[in-house]
Amino acid sequence: MALVNGEGSNEMVQAQAHIWNHIFNFINSMSLKCAIQLGVPDAIHNHGQPITLSELVAALSIPPAKTQAVYRLMRMLVHSGFFAIHEVLHQDQEGYVLTPSSRLLLKGKPTSVSPFLLAMLDPILLTPWNFLSAWFMGSELCPFETAHGGTIWDYAGKDSVLNNFLNEAMASDARLAMSVVVRECKEIFEGLTSLVDVGGGTGTAAKILVETFPHLKCTVFDLPHVVSTLQVSNNLDYIGGDMFNSIPPADAILLKWILHDWSDDECLKILKQCKEAILSKDKGGKVIIIDMVVEDKKGKHESIETQLFFDMMMMTLATGRERNEKEWKKLFLEAGFSHYKITPVLGLRSLIEVYP
Ligand SMILES: C[S@@+](CC[C@H](N)C(=O)[O-])C[C@H]1O[C@@H](n2cnc3c(N)ncnc32)[C@H](O)[C@@H]1O
Repeated sequence: MALVNGEGSNEMVQAQAHIWNHIFNFINSMSLKCAIQLGVPDAIHNHGQPITLSELVAALSIPPAKTQAVYRLMRMLVHSGFFAIHEVLHQDQEGYVLTPSSRLLLKGKPTSVSPFLLAMLDPILLTPWNFLSAWFMGSELCPFETAHGGTIWDYAGKDSVLNNFLNEAMASDARLAMSVVVRECKEIFEGLTSLVDVGGGTGTAAKILVETFPHLKCTVFDLPHVVSTLQVSNNLDYIGGDMFNSIPPADAILLKWILHDWSDDECLKILKQCKEAILSKDKGGKVIIIDMVVEDKKGKHESIETQLFFDMMMMTLATGRERNEKEWKKLFLEAGFSHYKITPVLGLRSLIEVYP
């Protein structure tokens, strides 16, 4: 039999290993989540030099009987590049150190990715993945709805736990992304006197904009349960509402990580409302979008996988998708915009200026 001898059997065991790796891919996410919940990156950071296994166990207040388990968890995470092992100076021992990825997971840092990780791996957002095949056969808008009986935004409106961790996850991303945008793309905001951040969450991006551009007046427009308790401050106010009904007027409308949540039909409705809201249509008024522009075939295997992960997530948690340039262009033209400019400034995401 071709599959038992020679090349055939080699192929078969490789195929089995390939399947095993995919079955157990979740162990990467769950091990990382466990390390964040235990506070491993912060314990290593606070130690100030490579931390030995027993020092790490003590710093985390884990019972010493679990030392071997901590070793095995750390071995997994060293393998996946979140920690590394270095010699401890003047001691004949080795200890764990942070890598660039785990430095981004330190809890106290404003740009920490930990809130995003904890939100995405919370059971409320993981459960819909178990309903993916049922959704294919059913009639709900997305697997989140199959699992929970409503949209993610309805759920967040009723459940303060989901509302808070979604808002925190978005705020941490907004801090990271906007710090890059205002450093690398200042000129995009120069000359604007007013901006509405549609679906702007709890206002992190808008705060960074008003701090960087003191002449810019920003309004954060989001669902009432997101903005109702937030404090208005200098040049920054909050309005609760539904972007499908109307959007407050301004020189520019920011849509950061909004359109990928929605289907093409829904995006057209949002973009048409944005066009209505732009005040200075002939004097530089525009929509500023921050989202992925998917590259179909080019790019590293890892980046393509990340784009595919996000696309599947948008299908599972909402009605959206990630789009390539051709798909973006079609949306802009159908919504009545005349031209656009893509600036790929944020790694896998781009900043897109769209003009009426
Ligand atoms: C993925 S989050 C993006 C948050 C923020 N723009 C950022 O990137 O940090 C999507 C936001 O859209 C808001 N949203 C959802 N439906 C909305 C609607 N119909 N009108 C206004 N905002 C809405 C959500 O409450 C949430 O804050």
